[in-house]
Amino acid sequence: MSDPGIVKQVSVMLEEAEKIAREHGVIVGRVSRHKPSRIDEEGGNVVFDVDPETYFTSYEEIAQSGSYLAVVDVKTREIISLRVIEIERQDILAELDLPEFTISLPKPDASGLFTRTRVKAKPLLSYNPSTSVVKAANYVVEPQSPIIKPTRVDTIQYLLGLPTKGVFIGYVTIGERLLFNKPTPLYIPLKTFYQHILVLGTTGSGKTTLLKNLIASIYSCYNYDGDKPSIIIMDPNKDYVHIPLKPLWEPSIGIDWELEERLVIEARKSVRQPSGIVIILPITQYIVNRLIKEESTWVKALRVIARDYFDTVYRGVVEKIGGSIREFDMEVVESSVDGLKLRYAYTRTVINYNGSSEELKLYIIPYGFRFTAMSPREFIELNPFFTQQARDALYRILIKLRDEGIYFNTLREFYDTIIEARLMRKKREPGINLEPRKNRLYELINRFAIHRATLDNIVRQIGSLVDTGFFDIVIPCRDGEEKYLNEPPVKAILEKHEELFNKYPIVLDLEYLQENSPGDPEQSIAISAFRVLNKIFEWKMVKARQRVKTQPVIIVVDEAHRFFPSHGGRRDEYIEHISSMIDRIARLGRARGLGIVFSTHSPKDVHDIILQLTNTKIILRMDKSLIGLLDIPSEYRDFIVKTSDRVGIVKSHALRLGYITFRTPLPLTGHYDLSALSIGG
Ligand SMILES: Nc1ncnc2c1ncn2[C@@H]1O[C@H](COP(=O)(O)OP(=O)(O)OP(=O)(O)O)[C@@H](O)[C@H]1O
Ligand SMILES: [Mg+2]
Repeated sequence: MSDPGIVKQVSVMLEEAEKIAREHGVIVGRVSRHKPSRIDEEGGNVVFDVDPETYFTSYEEIAQSGSYLAVVDVKTREIISLRVIEIERQDILAELDLPEFTISLPKPDASGLFTRTRVKAKPLLSYNPSTSVVKAANYVVEPQSPIIKPTRVDTIQYLLGLPTKGVFIGYVTIGERLLFNKPTPLYIPLKTFYQHILVLGTTGSGKTTLLKNLIASIYSCYNYDGDKPSIIIMDPNKDYVHIPLKPLWEPSIGIDWELEERLVIEARKSVRQPSGIVIILPITQYIVNRLIKEESTWVKALRVIARDYFDTVYRGVVEKIGGSIREFDMEVVESSVDGLKLRYAYTRTVINYNGSSEELKLYIIPYGFRFTAMSPREFIELNPFFTQQARDALYRILIKLRDEGIYFNTLREFYDTIIEARLMRKKREPGINLEPRKNRLYELINRFAIHRATLDNIVRQIGSLVDTGFFDIVIPCRDGEEKYLNEPPVKAILEKHEELFNKYPIVLDLEYLQENSPGDPEQSIAISAFRVLNKIFEWKMVKARQRVKTQPVIIVVDEAHRFFPSHGGRRDEYIEHISSMIDRIARLGRARGLGIVFSTHSPKDVHDIILQLTNTKIILRMDKSLIGLLDIPSEYRDFIVKTSDRVGIVKSHALRLGYITFRTPLPLTGHYDLSALSIGG
């Protein structure tokens, strides 16, 4: 006979466990008294039975392989999460174990289905509700312990080892369905962003929507600690300039509209689109020539350019989404930050959407390069298409010219001179020259014994920099007035991000550049994107060295394959150069609060370094043939091939279980498939 004291103690435990179970969820069953609970070196399992009533009313949440439940262990009163791995249903006839009739099949009979359902589950993590400590579940669970469907969001987050704070990215699911049929927010801790994130998914799977949702979450300061990061977006498709516009959702075939609406309404209680945006707008000579016909000043020219930009990029879209522009003000602001001049156009617009008014604020910063303002090192770093030899040789030449006080006012001038110097070398005759700079260049090329192929690469690559059209942009102006567009200081934009720009996300509009640059578009976008990236990095590093605190920075690189392509192309040296650049930025950025979020279609399209550098992967629907490259556990493979838009898996060290499935809501910012929009025509 057991000691009656112990028996009493255990029965108190049983009561307490029942009480905790009711506080944290709904009891759906009890650990079996007929089958053993086990634990061994490989882990444990728990078997429990579910009543027919409970089974028929909530089988989706309880009796589906892969779903989660919890058990309150009688001896520890800890709540242990369970992952359902096996479900067994039997008709009453099977349970009676009668010999099978051979002549006719028994008729369907509902009462035959009123049997208990046997469920086998695997314990995952144990959560102590009085101390909030979460550990791996490593002890055997007592028979009779109550099984619950947890109802409290915090309990669910603890039980699944999910972060309770961070950047909201969507809601936890079991496959496509919401976990326990309720919206449990999924957060990614802000510090995980500094270890970089890669978003993967096939066309239309929701990568851009997810990125916009997380930009809106960060901007809304919802549920994360620490300073609000500055967000900078490399936008090759003019997708992100619409962020401050009103979200608009269109039902499409096959979509569970009721669920989508429910999630969007829930999410928008905490996450809203920013009401403005900062656009770094790469200007080219072509744009100036097209828009500025008369003598002008940069202030006037910028007004014209910004106006044209607003009309082509916003006006039509606003009308298409059913809005009308009520007020429109524009001014050009000149600000001085530590002696650096920052000039931008500021536009404030009020948009009326069916009776409700919303403000839209745009800050347009013209971006272009000035040859004379660049140091030799900056100049050679600018074009990743220089070969290593070309980089070295050009650096030596530029340093020498600078030391000798030989000056070229524009890149074009330098380019023309170097072409002629090369010609002189081809003809092997110095000739009699009226242009001393040309002679000196010719001499330097000879003195440094620059190989012909290297010189060719230098000439070709400087030529393509000239072709981009964003060097030394001039406006027609009166004598004595500022003729060239100066490169805006990225460091000033970041330092004054809050004060001047309300921390609105910063978008580098690379599509505008492609439309307006006569050069190779991929090269043009790479050059300007890398320049901005390097400038952000440099600013972070300098400030860290000076021990000056800076706000965190999150850089979003959508369509990362366009910036960091994988091997396979011809330009191996180019690829190595940019991958070592991103490697340096990512590794050093980590400790300095600089995080990068990349997105791409396929892990094959981006350089391996991107896969290695990103500690967190968010995988949306993906082609079967690519799954193998990603080391996804087998239970998720089928799901990820078939799942709906905006549903996927997060694989991260920030998750105790390593993986979780989730659904991000419809876009929480302006994001439209403009060709498919039905309203507005
Ligand atoms: N405003 C909206 N309302 C409803 N559905 C939308 C809306 N905007 C986009 N979608 C749909 O959501 C899905 C995801 O679109 P999204 O642009 O995020 O995909 P993506 O993965 O970035 O695609 P791509 O690789 O082509 O850039 C698409 O099927 C798209 O048609
Ligand atoms: Mg996209």
